[in-house]
Amino acid sequence: MDYRHHTARNEIAILPSLLASDFGNLEAGARKAEASGADALHLDIMDGHFVPNLSMGPDVVKMARRAIRIPLSVHLMMTNPELYLARFVEAGADVLLIHIEVSGDVPAMLKEIRRLGARPGITLNPKTPAERVFGCLGLVDEVLCMTVQPGYGGQKFMDEQLPKIREIHAQIRQDGHNVDISVDGGIDMNTVVSAAAAGANVFIAGTSLYGLPDMKTGTAQMRELAAGAYSLVRK
Ligand code: DX5
Ligand code: ZN
Repeated sequence: MDYRHHTARNEIAILPSLLASDFGNLEAGARKAEASGADALHLDIMDGHFVPNLSMGPDVVKMARRAIRIPLSVHLMMTNPELYLARFVEAGADVLLIHIEVSGDVPAMLKEIRRLGARPGITLNPKTPAERVFGCLGLVDEVLCMTVQPGYGGQKFMDEQLPKIREIHAQIRQDGHNVDISVDGGIDMNTVVSAAAAGANVFIAGTSLYGLPDMKTGTAQMRELAAGAYSLVRK
């Protein structure tokens, strides 16, 4: 699975985060993302331990898989992701993002995700330095830089994360890897530009996109803004 197969124009992908849709009708929220031209749907899995909040599990991924055709990006904010990788892939996850901060053998987990047939991604919390993921770059298709403290939607984008995105972008370029950089947290029409200019090309946005009266126009606009800024830094 490659977002780029779904983005005719360039490497930019826009992923609405289902966490920000109405929990009274998550299926409608998933359909709305697809109908708005999203490149994939992002689903946040929280275990009440790795992060202080609880959200959704494999059955919600299964529901989304039945409801829509675009890829599903599943963000595991969990202490023991290795116990659930197969269940999420079976549920329909195309992308599985685990956190570098978990204990256990992260490279083995990334290899397992690929073996299961999904696209592996590694995620860093705001306080985690860029170097922590450098050793994983050959094992992943995506590095997700959190631009808020994970656990809740609707938080403010942390500008101080931009140098880290630049560092990771430079390292990926230097090593010659084909790895996407995604950002998650506080992404809107302004912050998408700063993140793209720093080297991010995949944008996860909850509150801003679902809050728009016209999500379709908003998704297209966010993609255009990102493409403009990213064109200055792309490989
Ligand atoms: C936060 C989640 C995000 C969240 C982003 O822990 O990982 O995916 O949905 O929400 P917004 O776009 O509202 O900051
Ligand atoms: Zn997320």
